[in-house]
Amino acid sequence: MTPRFVLAIDQGTTSSRCIAFDQHARLAGMAQRTHRQHYPKSGWVEQDALEIWRTVERIVPAALRDAGITVDQVAAIGIANQRETTVVWDRRTGLPVRLAIVWQDVRTEALVDRMKESPGAQRIAELSGLPLATYFAAPRLRWLLDEVDGLRERAERGEVLFGTMESWLIWNLTGGAEHVTDVTNAGRTLLMNLATRQWDEELLRFFDIPRAMLPRIEPSTGDFGTASTVVPGVRIGAALGDQHAALFGQTCFAPGETECTYGTGGFLMMNTGAELIRSRHGLLTTIGYQLGPEPVYALEGPIAVTGSLVQWLRDIVGLIATAPEIETLATTVDDNGGCYLVPAFSGLYAPHWRSDARGLLIGLTSYVTKGHLARAVLEATAWQTRDVVEAMNADAGLRAKSLRVAGGMASNNLLMQIIADVLDTPVMRPLVTETVSLGAAYAAGLAVGYWPDLQGLRRNWKVAAQWTPSHVRGVREEEYERWQRAVQLSVGWGR
Ligand code: G3P
Repeated sequence: MTPRFVLAIDQGTTSSRCIAFDQHARLAGMAQRTHRQHYPKSGWVEQDALEIWRTVERIVPAALRDAGITVDQVAAIGIANQRETTVVWDRRTGLPVRLAIVWQDVRTEALVDRMKESPGAQRIAELSGLPLATYFAAPRLRWLLDEVDGLRERAERGEVLFGTMESWLIWNLTGGAEHVTDVTNAGRTLLMNLATRQWDEELLRFFDIPRAMLPRIEPSTGDFGTASTVVPGVRIGAALGDQHAALFGQTCFAPGETECTYGTGGFLMMNTGAELIRSRHGLLTTIGYQLGPEPVYALEGPIAVTGSLVQWLRDIVGLIATAPEIETLATTVDDNGGCYLVPAFSGLYAPHWRSDARGLLIGLTSYVTKGHLARAVLEATAWQTRDVVEAMNADAGLRAKSLRVAGGMASNNLLMQIIADVLDTPVMRPLVTETVSLGAAYAAGLAVGYWPDLQGLRRNWKVAAQWTPSHVRGVREEEYERWQRAVQLSVGWGR
Protein backbone atom coordinates (compact mmCIF):
# COMPACT_ATOMS: atom_id res chain seq x y z
CA MET A 1 0.00 0.00 0.00
CA THR A 2 1.26 3.52 -0.75
CA PRO A 3 2.28 5.23 2.51
CA ARG A 4 0.08 8.08 3.61
CA PHE A 5 0.97 11.28 5.44
CA VAL A 6 -0.69 14.14 7.28
CA LEU A 7 0.12 17.73 6.40
CA ALA A 8 0.26 20.58 8.89
CA ILE A 9 0.32 24.26 8.07
CA ASP A 10 1.73 26.42 10.86
CA GLN A 11 0.88 29.99 9.94
CA GLY A 12 3.01 31.92 12.46
CA THR A 13 3.76 35.57 13.21
CA THR A 14 6.96 35.78 11.18
CA SER A 15 6.68 32.86 8.78
CA SER A 16 4.48 30.04 7.56
CA ARG A 17 5.66 26.47 7.35
CA CYS A 18 4.19 23.27 6.04
CA ILE A 19 5.32 19.88 7.34
CA ALA A 20 4.40 16.37 6.22
CA PHE A 21 4.37 13.82 9.07
CA ASP A 22 4.27 10.06 8.81
CA GLN A 23 2.39 7.69 11.11
CA HIS A 24 5.26 7.64 13.64
CA ALA A 25 5.18 11.45 13.82
CA ARG A 26 8.43 11.61 11.89
CA LEU A 27 9.01 14.65 9.77
CA ALA A 28 8.93 13.53 6.13
CA GLY A 29 9.20 16.88 4.37
CA MET A 30 9.00 20.58 5.08
CA ALA A 31 8.92 24.04 3.51
CA GLN A 32 8.90 27.48 5.08
CA ARG A 33 8.59 31.10 3.92
CA THR A 34 8.58 34.38 5.73
CA HIS A 35 6.22 37.28 5.06
CA ARG A 36 6.69 41.01 5.53
CA GLN A 37 5.94 42.89 8.72
CA HIS A 38 4.62 46.45 8.42
CA TYR A 39 5.15 49.01 11.19
CA PRO A 40 3.33 52.12 9.90
CA LYS A 41 3.29 53.87 13.29
CA SER A 42 4.73 53.31 16.72
CA GLY A 43 2.87 50.41 18.32
CA TRP A 44 1.22 49.36 15.03
CA VAL A 45 2.02 45.96 13.49
CA GLU A 46 0.38 44.84 10.24
CA GLN A 47 0.68 41.97 7.76
CA ASP A 48 -0.72 41.43 4.28
CA ALA A 49 -3.16 38.50 4.53
CA LEU A 50 -3.02 38.05 0.75
CA GLU A 51 0.77 37.75 0.85
CA ILE A 52 0.41 35.15 3.60
CA TRP A 53 -2.07 33.16 1.50
CA ARG A 54 0.30 33.31 -1.53
CA THR A 55 3.06 32.03 0.77
CA VAL A 56 0.90 29.12 1.88
CA GLU A 57 0.08 28.35 -1.77
CA ARG A 58 3.80 27.88 -2.35
CA ILE A 59 4.94 26.05 0.80
CA VAL A 60 2.34 23.28 0.64
CA PRO A 61 3.45 21.88 -2.76
CA ALA A 62 7.07 22.53 -1.74
CA ALA A 63 6.63 20.39 1.39
CA LEU A 64 5.06 17.62 -0.70
CA ARG A 65 8.03 17.78 -3.08
CA ASP A 66 10.45 17.72 -0.15
CA ALA A 67 8.74 14.61 1.20
CA GLY A 68 8.65 13.08 -2.30
CA ILE A 69 4.89 12.48 -2.13
CA THR A 70 1.79 13.45 -4.08
CA VAL A 71 -1.54 14.97 -3.02
CA ASP A 72 -3.32 11.60 -3.17
CA GLN A 73 -1.01 10.38 -0.38
CA VAL A 74 -2.27 13.07 2.00
CA ALA A 75 -4.77 11.70 4.50
CA ALA A 76 -5.73 15.11 5.93
CA ILE A 77 -4.47 18.60 6.54
CA GLY A 78 -4.41 20.45 9.87
CA ILE A 79 -3.95 24.16 10.47
CA ALA A 80 -2.29 25.92 13.39
CA ASN A 81 -1.99 29.67 13.39
CA GLN A 82 -0.85 32.85 15.11
CA ARG A 83 -3.88 33.82 17.14
CA GLU A 84 -5.72 37.13 17.57
CA THR A 85 -4.44 38.62 14.30
CA THR A 86 -7.47 40.21 12.68
CA VAL A 87 -8.42 39.98 9.00
CA VAL A 88 -11.53 41.41 7.31
CA TRP A 89 -12.18 40.51 3.69
CA ASP A 90 -14.78 41.04 0.98
CA ARG A 91 -17.05 38.02 0.59
CA ARG A 92 -17.45 38.56 -3.17
CA THR A 93 -13.90 39.42 -4.29
CA GLY A 94 -12.11 37.49 -1.51
CA LEU A 95 -9.76 40.45 -1.04
CA PRO A 96 -8.81 41.79 2.41
CA VAL A 97 -10.24 45.28 3.00
CA ARG A 98 -6.89 46.38 4.42
CA LEU A 99 -3.77 44.95 6.03
CA ALA A 100 -4.35 42.49 8.89
CA ILE A 101 -3.80 43.88 12.38
CA VAL A 102 -1.35 41.64 14.21
CA TRP A 103 -1.73 40.38 17.80
CA GLN A 104 1.23 42.52 18.94
CA ASP A 105 -0.41 45.74 17.71
CA VAL A 106 -1.40 48.14 20.54
CA ARG A 107 -3.23 50.85 18.56
CA THR A 108 -6.40 50.11 20.51
CA GLU A 109 -4.89 51.05 23.88
CA ALA A 110 -6.99 54.23 24.33
CA LEU A 111 -10.11 52.46 23.03
CA VAL A 112 -9.58 49.61 25.50
CA ASP A 113 -9.00 52.05 28.37
CA ARG A 114 -12.32 53.76 27.54
CA MET A 115 -14.07 50.40 27.27
CA LYS A 116 -12.81 49.39 30.72
CA GLU A 117 -14.86 52.26 32.15
CA SER A 118 -18.06 51.34 30.23
CA PRO A 119 -20.97 49.48 31.78
CA GLY A 120 -20.64 45.74 31.28
CA ALA A 121 -16.81 45.71 31.31
CA GLN A 122 -16.70 43.74 34.55
CA ARG A 123 -18.67 40.89 32.87
CA ILE A 124 -16.12 40.30 30.12
CA ALA A 125 -13.71 38.08 32.03
CA GLU A 126 -16.59 36.05 33.40
CA LEU A 127 -18.07 35.42 29.94
CA SER A 128 -14.93 35.08 27.81
CA GLY A 129 -12.28 33.92 30.32
CA LEU A 130 -10.04 36.77 29.19
CA PRO A 131 -9.14 40.19 30.58
CA LEU A 132 -10.11 43.20 28.46
CA ALA A 133 -6.76 43.93 26.76
CA THR A 134 -5.37 45.10 23.42
CA TYR A 135 -3.96 41.59 22.87
CA PHE A 136 -7.29 40.09 21.71
CA ALA A 137 -9.15 40.45 18.42
CA ALA A 138 -12.42 42.22 19.32
CA PRO A 139 -10.97 45.70 20.01
CA ARG A 140 -9.10 45.51 16.67
CA LEU A 141 -12.22 44.54 14.83
CA ARG A 142 -14.12 47.37 16.50
CA TRP A 143 -11.31 49.75 15.52
CA LEU A 144 -11.64 48.67 11.87
CA LEU A 145 -15.42 49.05 11.92
CA ASP A 146 -15.03 52.58 13.31
CA GLU A 147 -12.14 53.67 11.10
CA VAL A 148 -12.77 52.17 7.66
CA ASP A 149 -15.39 54.12 5.73
CA GLY A 150 -18.60 52.18 5.17
CA LEU A 151 -17.21 48.97 6.70
CA ARG A 152 -19.83 48.70 9.44
CA GLU A 153 -22.71 48.93 6.93
CA ARG A 154 -21.06 46.34 4.69
CA ALA A 155 -20.49 44.09 7.70
CA GLU A 156 -24.14 44.36 8.74
CA ARG A 157 -25.18 43.33 5.21
CA GLY A 158 -22.80 40.34 5.45
CA GLU A 159 -20.69 41.65 2.56
CA VAL A 160 -17.43 41.58 4.51
CA LEU A 161 -16.22 38.77 6.73
CA PHE A 162 -14.05 38.63 9.83
CA GLY A 163 -11.60 35.90 10.66
CA THR A 164 -8.28 35.12 12.28
CA MET A 165 -5.63 33.42 10.13
CA GLU A 166 -7.13 29.91 10.21
CA SER A 167 -10.49 31.25 8.94
CA TRP A 168 -8.75 33.20 6.21
CA LEU A 169 -6.70 30.17 5.09
CA ILE A 170 -9.66 27.79 5.18
CA TRP A 171 -11.77 30.27 3.19
CA ASN A 172 -9.06 30.33 0.54
CA LEU A 173 -8.30 26.60 0.61
CA THR A 174 -11.99 25.83 0.06
CA GLY A 175 -12.42 28.46 -2.66
CA GLY A 176 -14.70 30.55 -0.43
CA ALA A 177 -17.00 27.65 0.49
CA GLU A 178 -16.24 27.70 4.24
CA HIS A 179 -16.29 30.64 6.63
CA VAL A 180 -15.38 28.86 9.82
CA THR A 181 -13.17 29.00 12.92
CA ASP A 182 -12.47 26.63 15.79
CA VAL A 183 -13.12 27.02 19.52
CA THR A 184 -9.49 27.71 20.43
CA ASN A 185 -9.22 30.62 17.99
CA ALA A 186 -12.74 31.94 18.59
CA GLY A 187 -11.91 31.84 22.31
CA ARG A 188 -9.23 34.49 21.76
CA THR A 189 -11.51 37.14 20.28
CA LEU A 190 -13.27 38.24 23.52
CA LEU A 191 -16.52 37.49 21.68
CA MET A 192 -17.00 33.81 22.47
CA ASN A 193 -18.78 32.60 25.59
CA LEU A 194 -16.42 30.08 27.16
CA ALA A 195 -19.19 27.95 28.61
CA THR A 196 -21.47 27.72 25.52
CA ARG A 197 -18.61 28.02 23.00
CA GLN A 198 -20.77 30.21 20.81
CA TRP A 199 -20.67 33.92 19.98
CA ASP A 200 -22.13 35.69 22.97
CA GLU A 201 -24.89 38.28 22.48
CA GLU A 202 -23.78 40.37 25.46
CA LEU A 203 -20.16 40.46 24.26
CA LEU A 204 -21.19 41.29 20.69
CA ARG A 205 -23.25 44.20 22.06
CA PHE A 206 -20.44 45.39 24.29
CA PHE A 207 -17.93 45.53 21.42
CA ASP A 208 -20.63 46.51 18.89
CA ILE A 209 -19.75 43.79 16.39
CA PRO A 210 -22.28 42.68 13.72
CA ARG A 211 -22.92 38.96 13.98
CA ALA A 212 -23.29 38.64 10.18
CA MET A 213 -19.54 39.01 9.68
CA LEU A 214 -18.50 36.22 12.09
CA PRO A 215 -17.50 32.69 11.10
CA ARG A 216 -19.24 29.60 12.45
CA ILE A 217 -17.47 27.95 15.38
CA GLU A 218 -16.43 24.29 15.17
CA PRO A 219 -14.53 21.99 17.58
CA SER A 220 -10.80 21.73 16.86
CA THR A 221 -11.45 18.56 14.86
CA GLY A 222 -14.65 19.89 13.32
CA ASP A 223 -16.18 20.22 9.92
CA PHE A 224 -13.80 22.52 8.07
CA GLY A 225 -14.59 21.25 4.59
CA THR A 226 -12.42 19.86 1.83
CA ALA A 227 -9.72 21.79 -0.01
CA SER A 228 -10.57 22.70 -3.57
CA THR A 229 -7.20 24.25 -4.32
CA VAL A 230 -3.52 23.65 -3.41
CA VAL A 231 -4.33 20.12 -2.13
CA PRO A 232 -7.64 19.52 -3.94
CA GLY A 233 -9.80 16.80 -2.42
CA VAL A 234 -7.93 16.70 0.90
CA ARG A 235 -10.07 17.03 4.01
CA ILE A 236 -9.21 19.87 6.38
CA GLY A 237 -9.35 17.81 9.55
CA ALA A 238 -8.42 20.33 12.21
CA ALA A 239 -7.71 23.92 13.12
CA LEU A 240 -6.20 25.18 16.38
CA GLY A 241 -4.45 28.28 17.65
CA ASP A 242 -0.71 27.62 17.52
CA GLN A 243 -0.16 27.46 21.28
CA HIS A 244 -3.12 25.10 21.69
CA ALA A 245 -1.61 22.96 18.94
CA ALA A 246 1.67 22.96 20.90
CA LEU A 247 -0.14 21.65 24.00
CA PHE A 248 -1.60 18.89 21.83
CA GLY A 249 1.68 18.17 20.03
CA GLN A 250 3.44 17.83 23.39
CA THR A 251 0.71 15.28 24.26
CA CYS A 252 -0.25 17.20 27.41
CA PHE A 253 -3.55 15.30 27.59
CA ALA A 254 -3.87 14.98 31.39
CA PRO A 255 -4.77 17.71 33.89
CA GLY A 256 -1.65 19.38 35.29
CA GLU A 257 0.52 18.61 32.25
CA THR A 258 2.22 21.83 31.25
CA GLU A 259 4.25 23.02 28.29
CA CYS A 260 5.86 26.18 27.04
CA THR A 261 6.82 27.24 23.54
CA TYR A 262 9.62 29.78 23.59
CA GLY A 263 9.65 31.88 20.43
CA THR A 264 9.77 35.67 20.21
CA GLY A 265 7.38 35.50 23.17
CA GLY A 266 6.74 32.59 25.51
CA PHE A 267 3.41 30.85 25.87
CA LEU A 268 2.79 28.50 28.79
CA MET A 269 -0.23 26.24 28.86
CA MET A 270 -1.47 23.89 31.53
CA ASN A 271 -4.12 21.30 30.77
CA THR A 272 -6.93 21.60 33.37
CA GLY A 273 -9.11 18.84 31.92
CA ALA A 274 -12.88 19.09 31.89
CA GLU A 275 -12.75 21.82 34.49
CA LEU A 276 -13.19 25.42 33.42
CA ILE A 277 -10.98 27.21 35.96
CA ARG A 278 -11.55 30.94 36.14
CA SER A 279 -8.18 32.49 36.83
CA ARG A 280 -7.82 34.64 39.91
CA HIS A 281 -4.11 35.13 39.35
CA GLY A 282 -3.82 36.88 36.00
CA LEU A 283 -3.95 33.93 33.60
CA LEU A 284 -6.21 33.29 30.64
CA THR A 285 -8.86 30.62 30.79
CA THR A 286 -8.89 29.05 27.40
CA ILE A 287 -9.88 25.91 25.55
CA GLY A 288 -6.89 23.65 25.16
CA TYR A 289 -8.55 21.65 22.38
CA GLN A 290 -11.88 20.04 21.60
CA LEU A 291 -12.04 16.69 19.84
CA GLY A 292 -15.56 15.53 20.67
CA PRO A 293 -18.61 17.20 22.16
CA GLU A 294 -16.79 18.39 25.30
CA PRO A 295 -13.69 20.59 25.38
CA VAL A 296 -10.50 20.19 27.37
CA TYR A 297 -9.76 23.45 29.14
CA ALA A 298 -6.40 25.03 29.82
CA LEU A 299 -4.85 27.90 31.68
CA GLU A 300 -2.49 30.01 29.64
CA GLY A 301 0.16 32.51 30.60
CA PRO A 302 1.45 34.45 27.61
CA ILE A 303 4.77 36.29 28.05
CA ALA A 304 5.27 39.04 25.49
CA VAL A 305 9.10 39.11 25.35
CA THR A 306 11.41 36.11 25.59
CA GLY A 307 13.40 35.33 22.41
CA SER A 308 12.87 38.86 21.12
CA LEU A 309 15.01 40.11 24.03
CA VAL A 310 17.94 38.10 22.64
CA GLN A 311 17.20 39.52 19.16
CA TRP A 312 17.22 43.02 20.64
CA LEU A 313 20.58 42.38 22.26
CA ARG A 314 21.91 41.18 18.92
CA ASP A 315 20.29 43.62 16.45
CA ILE A 316 19.87 46.82 18.45
CA VAL A 317 22.44 46.72 21.25
CA GLY A 318 25.02 44.69 19.30
CA LEU A 319 26.32 42.84 22.37
CA ILE A 320 26.28 39.52 20.50
CA ALA A 321 26.59 38.72 16.79
CA THR A 322 24.39 35.62 16.72
CA ALA A 323 21.60 34.41 19.01
CA PRO A 324 23.45 31.25 20.22
CA GLU A 325 26.31 33.50 21.42
CA ILE A 326 24.15 34.54 24.36
CA GLU A 327 24.72 31.11 25.88
CA THR A 328 28.50 31.26 25.38
CA LEU A 329 28.65 34.71 26.95
CA ALA A 330 26.42 33.78 29.87
CA THR A 331 28.54 30.73 30.72
CA THR A 332 31.58 32.98 31.32
CA VAL A 333 30.04 33.85 34.74
CA ASP A 334 28.38 31.88 37.53
CA ASP A 335 25.52 34.22 38.29
CA ASN A 336 23.89 37.51 37.29
CA GLY A 337 26.28 39.65 39.35
CA GLY A 338 23.25 41.24 41.03
CA CYS A 339 21.75 42.39 37.74
CA TYR A 340 18.07 42.03 36.69
CA LEU A 341 16.47 42.90 33.36
CA VAL A 342 12.69 43.22 33.13
CA PRO A 343 11.88 43.16 29.39
CA ALA A 344 8.57 45.04 29.60
CA PHE A 345 9.15 46.55 26.16
CA SER A 346 5.43 46.74 25.41
CA GLY A 347 4.15 46.40 28.94
CA LEU A 348 3.84 43.10 30.78
CA TYR A 349 1.45 40.30 29.84
CA ALA A 350 0.60 37.44 32.23
CA PRO A 351 0.25 37.43 35.12
CA HIS A 352 0.59 41.21 35.53
CA TRP A 353 -1.30 42.68 32.53
CA ARG A 354 0.28 46.09 32.90
CA SER A 355 0.49 47.97 29.62
CA ASP A 356 2.13 50.85 31.53
CA ALA A 357 5.23 48.82 32.52
CA ARG A 358 8.47 49.55 30.64
CA GLY A 359 11.79 47.73 30.37
CA LEU A 360 14.25 48.09 33.21
CA LEU A 361 17.82 47.04 33.93
CA ILE A 362 18.74 47.30 37.59
CA GLY A 363 21.51 46.29 39.98
CA LEU A 364 24.38 47.72 37.93
CA THR A 365 27.77 48.16 39.60
CA SER A 366 31.30 48.39 38.15
CA TYR A 367 31.57 44.67 38.84
CA VAL A 368 28.95 43.81 36.18
CA THR A 369 30.36 42.39 32.95
CA LYS A 370 28.89 41.50 29.55
CA GLY A 371 28.59 37.96 30.88
CA HIS A 372 26.39 39.09 33.75
CA LEU A 373 24.21 41.04 31.33
CA ALA A 374 23.85 37.98 29.10
CA ARG A 375 22.90 35.97 32.15
CA ALA A 376 20.31 38.58 33.20
CA VAL A 377 18.83 38.37 29.71
CA LEU A 378 18.40 34.59 29.96
CA GLU A 379 17.16 34.80 33.52
CA ALA A 380 14.47 37.27 32.45
CA THR A 381 12.83 34.42 30.53
CA ALA A 382 13.22 32.06 33.48
CA TRP A 383 11.82 34.50 36.06
CA GLN A 384 8.87 35.36 33.81
CA THR A 385 8.22 31.64 33.43
CA ARG A 386 8.23 31.29 37.19
CA ASP A 387 5.75 34.19 37.59
CA VAL A 388 3.35 32.34 35.29
CA VAL A 389 3.90 28.89 36.82
CA GLU A 390 3.27 30.27 40.33
CA ALA A 391 -0.02 31.72 39.08
CA MET A 392 -0.92 28.42 37.39
CA ASN A 393 -0.26 26.38 40.50
CA ALA A 394 -2.33 28.80 42.59
CA ASP A 395 -5.26 28.84 40.12
CA ALA A 396 -5.33 25.13 39.36
CA GLY A 397 -4.61 23.98 42.91
CA LEU A 398 -2.14 21.50 41.45
CA ARG A 399 1.57 21.77 40.90
CA ALA A 400 3.10 21.35 37.46
CA LYS A 401 5.29 18.25 37.90
CA SER A 402 7.42 19.07 34.90
CA LEU A 403 7.59 21.53 32.03
CA ARG A 404 7.74 20.34 28.43
CA VAL A 405 9.49 22.84 26.21
CA ALA A 406 9.89 23.60 22.52
CA GLY A 407 10.55 26.59 20.26
CA GLY A 408 13.80 28.33 19.28
CA MET A 409 14.95 29.15 22.80
CA ALA A 410 14.51 25.56 23.96
CA SER A 411 17.79 24.76 22.21
CA ASN A 412 19.58 27.00 24.75
CA ASN A 413 20.78 24.41 27.26
CA LEU A 414 21.90 26.91 29.88
CA LEU A 415 18.51 28.64 29.82
CA MET A 416 16.71 25.29 30.20
CA GLN A 417 18.88 24.51 33.25
CA ILE A 418 18.15 27.95 34.73
CA ILE A 419 14.41 27.37 34.20
CA ALA A 420 14.59 23.96 35.94
CA ASP A 421 16.39 25.71 38.82
CA VAL A 422 14.04 28.64 39.25
CA LEU A 423 10.92 26.44 38.94
CA ASP A 424 12.43 23.64 41.03
CA THR A 425 10.86 21.35 38.44
CA PRO A 426 12.33 19.12 35.71
CA VAL A 427 12.30 20.57 32.20
CA MET A 428 11.99 18.20 29.22
CA ARG A 429 12.58 18.74 25.51
CA PRO A 430 11.07 16.16 23.15
CA LEU A 431 12.70 14.59 20.13
CA VAL A 432 10.27 16.30 17.74
CA THR A 433 10.39 19.99 18.60
CA GLU A 434 7.97 21.04 15.83
CA THR A 435 5.24 20.70 18.41
CA VAL A 436 2.87 23.29 16.89
CA SER A 437 2.81 21.56 13.50
CA LEU A 438 2.73 18.15 15.12
CA GLY A 439 -0.30 19.14 17.23
CA ALA A 440 -2.18 20.33 14.14
CA ALA A 441 -1.22 17.13 12.30
CA TYR A 442 -2.27 14.94 15.24
CA ALA A 443 -5.68 16.60 15.49
CA ALA A 444 -6.25 16.34 11.72
CA GLY A 445 -5.05 12.73 11.71
CA LEU A 446 -7.40 11.79 14.55
CA ALA A 447 -10.29 13.40 12.66
CA VAL A 448 -9.87 11.02 9.73
CA GLY A 449 -8.79 7.94 11.69
CA TYR A 450 -5.15 8.16 10.54
CA TRP A 451 -4.23 7.84 14.21
CA PRO A 452 -6.67 5.82 16.29
CA ASP A 453 -6.42 7.41 19.73
CA LEU A 454 -4.50 9.62 22.14
CA GLN A 455 -2.60 6.70 23.67
CA GLY A 456 -0.85 6.02 20.40
CA LEU A 457 0.17 9.68 20.15
CA ARG A 458 1.58 9.61 23.67
CA ARG A 459 3.85 6.74 22.68
CA ASN A 460 5.35 8.94 19.95
CA TRP A 461 6.47 11.54 22.51
CA LYS A 462 10.09 10.84 23.43
CA VAL A 463 12.42 12.87 25.63
CA ALA A 464 15.52 14.13 23.84
CA ALA A 465 16.94 16.13 26.77
CA GLN A 466 16.04 16.68 30.39
CA TRP A 467 17.23 19.18 33.01
CA THR A 468 16.74 18.62 36.73
CA PRO A 469 16.90 21.34 39.41
CA SER A 470 20.41 21.78 40.79
CA HIS A 471 20.37 25.18 42.44
CA VAL A 472 20.59 25.98 46.15
CA ARG A 473 17.02 26.67 47.17
CA GLY A 474 17.64 29.60 49.59
CA VAL A 475 19.71 31.53 47.06
CA ARG A 476 17.09 30.99 44.36
CA GLU A 477 14.30 32.32 46.55
CA GLU A 478 16.32 35.44 47.43
CA GLU A 479 16.94 36.03 43.75
CA TYR A 480 13.27 35.56 42.92
CA GLU A 481 12.35 38.16 45.51
CA ARG A 482 14.74 40.62 43.87
CA TRP A 483 13.18 39.87 40.48
CA GLN A 484 9.73 40.60 41.89
CA ARG A 485 10.98 43.92 43.27
CA ALA A 486 12.40 44.80 39.86
CA VAL A 487 9.02 44.01 38.23
CA GLN A 488 7.28 46.33 40.68
CA LEU A 489 9.69 49.12 39.76
CA SER A 490 9.03 48.66 36.02
CA VAL A 491 5.28 49.10 36.46
CA GLY A 492 3.89 52.56 35.80
CA TRP A 493 7.03 53.86 34.05
CA GLY A 494 5.17 54.09 30.71
CA ARG A 495 2.56 56.51 32.06
O1 G3P B 1 -1.02 34.77 20.62
C1 G3P B 1 -0.05 34.94 19.65
C2 G3P B 1 0.59 33.64 19.29
O2 G3P B 1 -0.35 32.75 18.82
C3 G3P B 1 1.73 33.88 18.31
O3 G3P B 1 2.56 32.80 18.24
O4 G3P B 1 4.54 31.57 17.53
O5 G3P B 1 3.23 32.79 15.82
O6 G3P B 1 4.59 34.08 17.46
P1 G3P B 1 3.81 32.80 17.20
